[in-house]
Amino acid sequence: MTDATDPTAGDGYFTEENSAEVVIARNRDCRDERLKTVMDSAVRHLHAFVKEVEPSNAEWMRVIEFLTATGHITSDWRQEWILLSDILGVSMLIDAIDNRKPRGATETTVLGPFHVSNAPHYENGQDICLDGKGEKLLVTGRVVDTDGRPIAGATLDVWQANDEGFYDVQQQGVQPDFNLRGIFTSGPDGAFWFRSVKPRFYPIPADGPVGQLLGALGRHPYRPAHIHFIVAAPGFEEVTTHLFTPDCPYLHTDAVFGVKADLIADFQTIDDAARAAELGFPNPFTAVDWTFVLARSEETPDDAGQGDRNA
Ligand code: BEZ
Ligand code: FE
Repeated sequence: MTDATDPTAGDGYFTEENSAEVVIARNRDCRDERLKTVMDSAVRHLHAFVKEVEPSNAEWMRVIEFLTATGHITSDWRQEWILLSDILGVSMLIDAIDNRKPRGATETTVLGPFHVSNAPHYENGQDICLDGKGEKLLVTGRVVDTDGRPIAGATLDVWQANDEGFYDVQQQGVQPDFNLRGIFTSGPDGAFWFRSVKPRFYPIPADGPVGQLLGALGRHPYRPAHIHFIVAAPGFEEVTTHLFTPDCPYLHTDAVFGVKADLIADFQTIDDAARAAELGFPNPFTAVDWTFVLARSEETPDDAGQGDRNA
């Protein structure tokens, strides 16, 4: 075993026993401290992994072929690397570490590949379902700070799949552009509302190497039904999150591990003919009400955990 603190350590020949130390020592002149930390750790863990698994050359070539196929299928609109990170739980782990929040702040989850940056801005009340297909849904709520005070002027960037489980960008020419997406702004009392349709569960893109890997692992590619939100206001931490429907069969087996108990909303059936008529909905209809709680930018994380104002 070589001594990692010895400046000449690792200058010997590479052996099975000293492999990680030799590689780490070779990088000792790296002037980027963070890069050195990251690469030293990556080498240490990767060598430990290889020593544990002992892949043959042929097996390692299969890994290389998988990574090559992952690169080949990746384009500006198809990000297979992110899917790989998602199905390994790495995206959610990094999200958890990078978004430690004070108690009570709304929890975050994955962004996913279907956000578009130029969605239309709408007045509250707009129906974001542009093709009239699906089961009507009323979404109401408020944006507040961690003391429960309303945040006026917060933006809520919303997007979701339709009732067949497809986003508009996956069905260009079938769904209208910007179907089921839009940006809303909270009023003076922090309130927002819009009309939509109930989202449906859907598979993550599964026709590439990540889909093949899921199949080989005996896993399905489905995400439980959800609505995406990015909620932002000046002086507050932006929150990228979802609301999940409570009755979805895939809630416990999300392909990308994005479900958090505090993000499962109460989608209620409302039987109110007058309200339905006001909204232009058939009676009864489904409604969900949700309070987004934003942490001030300077608020420190609370190790004691996170609360939930919607429980
Ligand atoms: C999504 O929710 O849109 C999504 C997240 C991760 C992978 C694929 C889709
Ligand atoms: Fe999604």
